[in-house]
Amino acid sequence: MKILEWKNNSLFILDQTKLPWKEEWIQCQKYQQVIDAIKKLKVRGAPAIGVAAGYGVALAAIKYTGYNLPEYINGVISEFALSRPTAVNLFMVLKRQGEIVLKNKQKSSVELKLMLLEEAQRIEEEERERSYAIANYGVDLIPDKANVLTHCNTGSLATIGLGTALGIIKEAWYRRRNINMVYFTETRPLLQGSRLTGWELTRENIPSTLITDNMVGYLMSKKNIDLVIVGADRIALNGDTANKIGTYTLAVLAKYHNIPFYVAAPLSSFDFQLENGSNIVIEERDPEEVLSVAGKKIAPDGINAMNPAFDITPNELITAIITEKGIIFPPFRENLEKIRRAIENEDSN
Ligand code: MRU
Repeated sequence: MKILEWKNNSLFILDQTKLPWKEEWIQCQKYQQVIDAIKKLKVRGAPAIGVAAGYGVALAAIKYTGYNLPEYINGVISEFALSRPTAVNLFMVLKRQGEIVLKNKQKSSVELKLMLLEEAQRIEEEERERSYAIANYGVDLIPDKANVLTHCNTGSLATIGLGTALGIIKEAWYRRRNINMVYFTETRPLLQGSRLTGWELTRENIPSTLITDNMVGYLMSKKNIDLVIVGADRIALNGDTANKIGTYTLAVLAKYHNIPFYVAAPLSSFDFQLENGSNIVIEERDPEEVLSVAGKKIAPDGINAMNPAFDITPNELITAIITEKGIIFPPFRENLEKIRRAIENEDSN
């Protein structure tokens, strides 16, 4: 499924705020439109935000007609960095594009523009491949006739490829077709579950049931859930995981009910600079999103509302983390440290 396309020196974005009602594409001819699309969640999900930003930086370069391309692109990168704070993928991509600029300052503008576009294309391809590798590792964690619970949207819409948590579920369905039921939360306030996961599951004909966010405890208490799989926006070195608001609640409930709780994420969603989750910046969004549903007011005028977009699940509530390099089990601090060192060695070779 395509959610982004680079064509005619523009970035086309499938507007996810219009789904499932309309499949509408936005043509971004200016990088500011890409920033706007990220802020408004027209493109969303940690890996997809990163890929969009990669192309956004390339778009800015290609449209630039001035005399100091490196300086201009560094400014553009700083603007993208202010779009959404929590998903680390965005910052990884901006760092990569910044390094392209730094290493190739002496090159002609034409060459540098092409290099930034090629880097964006490479980032897209890498994310696509990662999602298939994650699905391949994660599929064996889904027992036959399973009832699986997932949260938010972690499918193709969020990742470019197959998905992370939803990618694993899809892969299990493609291979064996004996998932009993995928339960998915509506994911208030912006309904990424009901609108987007619902849309993806329906297209694949996977047996699925929508629940409101507050039904999870009831469902688990009835022993209806065999496992929970969610995605991640940022994972610290000790395994603490930032993901869509409500994930923490699911994890606490899963622990209480002895249900395995898995996080699926590419290594581009890990932040090895952070010892634990306490320093992860949680995006605070406009309270208006809580005060309305699909544009309709649901509370009296003058009421206060809060709208944190993510929460942190402490590592001790996580059974395992599924990545493109394999499944990581506790002790997370020790095992993630090994991965961090392996990546550093790869980079220095
Ligand atoms: O606010 P969103 O829709 O960008 O939040 C998305 C999530 O929290 C996903 O679970 C996460 O990005 C993982 S997607 C593979």
